[in-house]
Amino acid sequence: MSTSSSQVVLEGRGVGRLFGTGPLAVRALHPTDIQVRRGEVLVIMGPSGSGKTTLLSLLGLVLSPTEGEVMLDGRTVSGGSPDALALLRRERVGFVFQQFNLMPGLSALDNVALPLLLRGTSARERAARARVALARVGLSDREAAKPRLLSGGQQQRVAIARALVTDAPVILCDEPTASLDGVTGKAVLNTLKDLATDLGRAVVVVTHDDRVLAIADRLVEVVDGHVHERASPSAREVHG
Ligand SMILES: Nc1ncnc2c1ncn2[C@@H]1O[C@H](COP(=O)(O)OP(=O)(O)O)[C@@H](O)[C@H]1O
Ligand SMILES: [Mg+2]
Repeated sequence: MSTSSSQVVLEGRGVGRLFGTGPLAVRALHPTDIQVRRGEVLVIMGPSGSGKTTLLSLLGLVLSPTEGEVMLDGRTVSGGSPDALALLRRERVGFVFQQFNLMPGLSALDNVALPLLLRGTSARERAARARVALARVGLSDREAAKPRLLSGGQQQRVAIARALVTDAPVILCDEPTASLDGVTGKAVLNTLKDLATDLGRAVVVVTHDDRVLAIADRLVEVVDGHVHERASPSAREVHG
């Protein structure tokens, strides 16, 4: 096995999605091959309605494919029972959304620890791991703050910490900077880049924000449900 194929953690093979049946069916994604590797930032761009969220949802085992299969850690996992898919999502995949989806009544620390609670981790270990994750996104000094007391960029970094606290090897982000201004968007992008570079996570970012290209190791474009791999932009930290 070559080095690059052994690094593949998540893969779609001929994966596609049709919504509905008959003449009213909507083709959201044509069957496509896509690989996501450890330690890389894969950026998925394309206009609104082109199929980006559908592709991300298929890769994240949120949506089942109507064609093809999704492989995680080298095993076919699409087609599993709802319980099996829920377990895989919880253990192997972290999600970051445009709207940060934090629990308003919980502190930053407790928001980050939530996936561990669902998993049955002890309170002491939950707090310890949530602290490490918050430190990783540069928010050690905001542990006790409720989301409403945090800026948008800080809230998104809490959401990123929540996505990485389980040690999930894959972090899937849907428009993570769309609600953020330029400066805070850049801080969030640099945080995502660090997850790939320093922690070896596979980071997938769906966006129509050109600034995200700055952290891309690989770029695919989705146009009318067709996925095209583009030449790799040279990834770098975001400055200015
Ligand atoms: N649950 C659904 N039911 C029917 N059509 C859908 C559904 N989800 C997405 N679509 C359609 O699939 C296409 C791709 O949508 P989406 O993946 O959300 O695009 P993007 O994220 O690029 O804006 C669109 O035409 C959209 O209307
Ligand atoms: Mg979308």
